[in-house]
Amino acid sequence: MSTRFIAMEGLDGSGGTTQIAMLKAAFEARGEPVIVTREPSDRPVGALIRDHLRRSWQDVLGDGVFPYLFAADRRDHLDCVVLPALARGENVLSDRYALSSFAYQAEAHGLDRVMRLNQDFPAPDLTIMLDLAPAMCLDRILARGSPRDRFEALDQLNTIAAGYEAAIRAVSWPIVRIDANGTPAQIAAAIAALVWPNG
Ligand code: TYD
Repeated sequence: MSTRFIAMEGLDGSGGTTQIAMLKAAFEARGEPVIVTREPSDRPVGALIRDHLRRSWQDVLGDGVFPYLFAADRRDHLDCVVLPALARGENVLSDRYALSSFAYQAEAHGLDRVMRLNQDFPAPDLTIMLDLAPAMCLDRILARGSPRDRFEALDQLNTIAAGYEAAIRAVSWPIVRIDANGTPAQIAAAIAALVWPNG
């Protein structure tokens, strides 16, 4: 099978990081070369974004710069990580990609504008959207111990969920939604059935 670029998407708390690790293991068990990567990336622009996300969005940089930073990080991530790996014959699994920008940055900056900023980037061969209700995502986030205001956090998750819905309608890439309300093994099995439809 030819190498593939697969992106994992979903709300915070929807289980993407767990599922991407399980999908990597499934590729390895089949002897198919694979790398796992993520956005914001682990490269310099991604590190800058993560630093600001940890401190809060309104820290030193104005909010207006974020769609550009995410796009700059995506360009760098594609050029230095994703495309070279695909050229080496490795499958690439990315924990978030451009759909996250469309979902998370659209409310503040407008979906059309964010999509324009990302128009040069290739569509993944497959985008897996982990569907989980915002309230369930919040339970998982709180169980991990993040101290957050429950109402504020739920409000934010609802906004981003609406952002994902609008983004999925607007994008013409192959996106498949997976019900993420189950055990990690159940969800991994549903994802494997999608990635290897012929078993
Ligand atoms: P995430 O990997 O989920 O965080 P963590 O490493 O803490 O699990 O991603 C960090 C946050 O960045 C997440 O809330 C989504 C957000 N994000 C955007 O707002 N726009 C983007 O384009 C991307 C890739 C991520």
